[in-house]
Amino acid sequence: MKGFAKSFAFIMAALLTITGCGNMTTANVEETNSAEDSIEIGLCFDSFVIERWEKDRDVFVDTASGLGATVNVQNANGNVDKQIEQIEYLIEKNVDCLVIIPVDGNALKDVVYKAKSREIPVVCYDRLIPNASTDLYISFDNTMVGEMLGEAIAKEDVEDVVMICGSLTDSNVSMVNEGFKSVMDKHGITILDTYYCEGWKAELGEAYVYDNKEIITEADAIMCGNDDVASAVIRALAISQLAGVKPVVGQDADLPACQHIVEGTQLMTVYKPVGKLAEQAAQLSYILASGQEISVDTTINDGSEEIPYVAVEPIAVTKDNMDEVIIDSGFHSHEDVYMNVE
Ligand code: GAL
Repeated sequence: MKGFAKSFAFIMAALLTITGCGNMTTANVEETNSAEDSIEIGLCFDSFVIERWEKDRDVFVDTASGLGATVNVQNANGNVDKQIEQIEYLIEKNVDCLVIIPVDGNALKDVVYKAKSREIPVVCYDRLIPNASTDLYISFDNTMVGEMLGEAIAKEDVEDVVMICGSLTDSNVSMVNEGFKSVMDKHGITILDTYYCEGWKAELGEAYVYDNKEIITEADAIMCGNDDVASAVIRALAISQLAGVKPVVGQDADLPACQHIVEGTQLMTVYKPVGKLAEQAAQLSYILASGQEISVDTTINDGSEEIPYVAVEPIAVTKDNMDEVIIDSGFHSHEDVYMNVE
C-alpha cells in the first residue's frame, strides 16, 4: 500500500510555510480521492485520561481523513512498553508516517530509529522524543506556558510558591518549569518545593497537599503542571477550607478548570488551541507521509541535532477573558463553564 499510495501522493501539491510561532501561512494540499491510493498514518497516544487528548485525536483524524488519509489510532494507556509494542506493530504494517505522543520520550529512541530505517517519517506530537532525529516536533511554546503561569502568580501578593509539576519523563515539563522559574526569579518569589507527578497522575498532586501541610500553609500560591493536577490540588485544599484562598494555576483549559476559574477556586489556566495544533500536525504529517518535504521556519535541538519545530502560541485565561477565549472559540459552552455559578 505504501509504495502504491506514494506513487499517487506525489500528485499532491503541498506547500506549507510555517512561521516560527506556528502560524500557518499557506497550505495548498490536494486531496487524493480513492481508497487504493490512501495514505495511512499511525497516531500513537500516551492515554486519554487527560480531557484534551480526545480533542487532539478528533481534529487530527478529521483533518487527515479530509485529505484522503486513513489514521490508525493507538492508545498506550500510559504504559511505555505497550507504546513501543504499538509502534513496532505500525512499523510492520508499513504505515506512511508515525505521529507519537510519547509516554516517555527517552524510551523511544531505538524504535524510532527502526522506523526511520524503514523510511517511515516520525513526528513528535506535543512532546519531544529526544536524540532520535525525528522529522518534526510540533507543540505549543511550552516555555511561554511556564512564563504565563508565573506572571499570573506574580500579579498576586505572593512571596513563596510550591510547584506541583507533571511527569519528569515529559520533556514539556522542563520547558514549562524553565519559563516559570525565570518569572519567579524576575519577581524575587521563592520556590519552597518542586514535586513531580509521575505519569501525570493527578492523585499524586492531591496526596502531596495532604502530606505536606506545613509547606502548603507557608506557600502563598501553587503552580500545577496541568489542570488535572490543579483540580486534584483544589480538592485537597478544600478539605482545609483553602480552596480559593491560595491561588492555583494550571494549563490545558480543561472544563473543570474553567469551571473552577469562574467559581473562584482556580486563578488561571493556559488555553492551548489543540484544534490548531492537531490540524497543522495532520497536514504536515500527511505531507511527510506523501514523501514530500515540509517547509518549517524554525528548528529545535533534540539533544543531538536541530530538527524542524512548530510552536503554536498559548493564551493565558482568567475569569476576565474566559468568554472571549474559551466560550467564543467553542472550546467549551457557556452553559458548561458556568453551570455552578448563579
Ligand atoms: C503535556 C502537555 C500538557 C498536558 C499534559 C497532560 O505533555 O504539555 O498540556 O496535556 O501533557 O497529558
